[in-house]
Amino acid sequence: MTRILGIETSCDETSAAVLEGSGDDVSQKSLVILSQDVHRVFGGVVPEIASRAHLTSIVPVVDRALAEAGLALDDLDVVAVTNTPGLVGALLVGMSYGKALAFSRDIPLVGVHHMEGHLFAAALEHRDAVPPFTALLISGGHTLLLDVEAWGKYRLLGATRDDAAGEAFDKVAKLLGLPYPGGRYVEQLARDGNPDRFRFARPMVRRNAQPRDEDFYAFSFSGLKTAVLNTVRASENVERDKADIARGFQDSLIDTLVEKTVRAANAFGRDRVVVGGGVACNRTLAAAMRARLEPEGITVFTPTPRLATDNAAMIARAGLFRFERGERAELDLNAYASSTIPGLVAA
Ligand code: KG4
Ligand code: ZN
Repeated sequence: MTRILGIETSCDETSAAVLEGSGDDVSQKSLVILSQDVHRVFGGVVPEIASRAHLTSIVPVVDRALAEAGLALDDLDVVAVTNTPGLVGALLVGMSYGKALAFSRDIPLVGVHHMEGHLFAAALEHRDAVPPFTALLISGGHTLLLDVEAWGKYRLLGATRDDAAGEAFDKVAKLLGLPYPGGRYVEQLARDGNPDRFRFARPMVRRNAQPRDEDFYAFSFSGLKTAVLNTVRASENVERDKADIARGFQDSLIDTLVEKTVRAANAFGRDRVVVGGGVACNRTLAAAMRARLEPEGITVFTPTPRLATDNAAMIARAGLFRFERGERAELDLNAYASSTIPGLVAA
């Protein structure tokens, strides 16, 4: 049994968590997430402010995670820290802290890819959210469709060619005058929207598409965002129309996500689908996935919002997997703004 501390500072959440266990038998001892609300004022994350905020909160956040777990620093066996992808200045804060901790306690350090963390989030709550499965990772910066044969064996089927799903939500929220980050406000607004007033084309969904077509699993949301922009500009009364526009946008985006996920699950004969990343908080999306997949005998797993958005428990969970595989990071571990998820097998 291993006790692992996870640290996550890739964007605008300072988070620490302690997990205990081995293999897929892992229990979460604590999870602390401190969200930096300051960025709301700017309508987006300001990197330097994010780094400075991580610096002031990292020590108390880790202390609190240990206290909630009823543990001291000496009780830890491993430290796992996100080192990519993300804001480099923000990543370096968590990494420097993690390195100092590992060095001073003489315990191993493991570097974790943030998106592999999102892949493990559902497994923290659902025993059956383990491979093999189809995975849809949808966050503010990424949109990835993967076939997961085993932990650490990922076949990348599709990614976005332009905006990420969360980014599309945030941009549309801005167009509609909603706060940042706007995904959940768009979802709220869409609930009261009329689905028939604005029907936007489903991006990259052709009826006779074939698996060998380049866009069979790919995503693109910038055209949809432009269509929303044009609709907002043409509207005589945005206040009156905004719920209907939000509804039209969300319906189009969700249809695309569901369609591509169904294609992947069917092509690989998977009976489980795991959704992760901040956009997985969207209840309308989860309901649409279930409505479409469950009749086909496919179970859909989504993490609760606390684990779907950025958090250190998922980093500790992915870190434990990497640790058990014998992976160790040296103290010169570097931060990278972008990198492919580890363990990719040829498509
Ligand atoms: O995974 P995450 O916390 O951070 C990144 O790694 O990017 O994802 C944040 C994204 C934001 O774009 C946010 O608007 C979106 O998740 N999001 C949502 C919802 N809740 C959060 N998008 C749609 N519907 C929601 N309910
Ligand atoms: Zn994330």
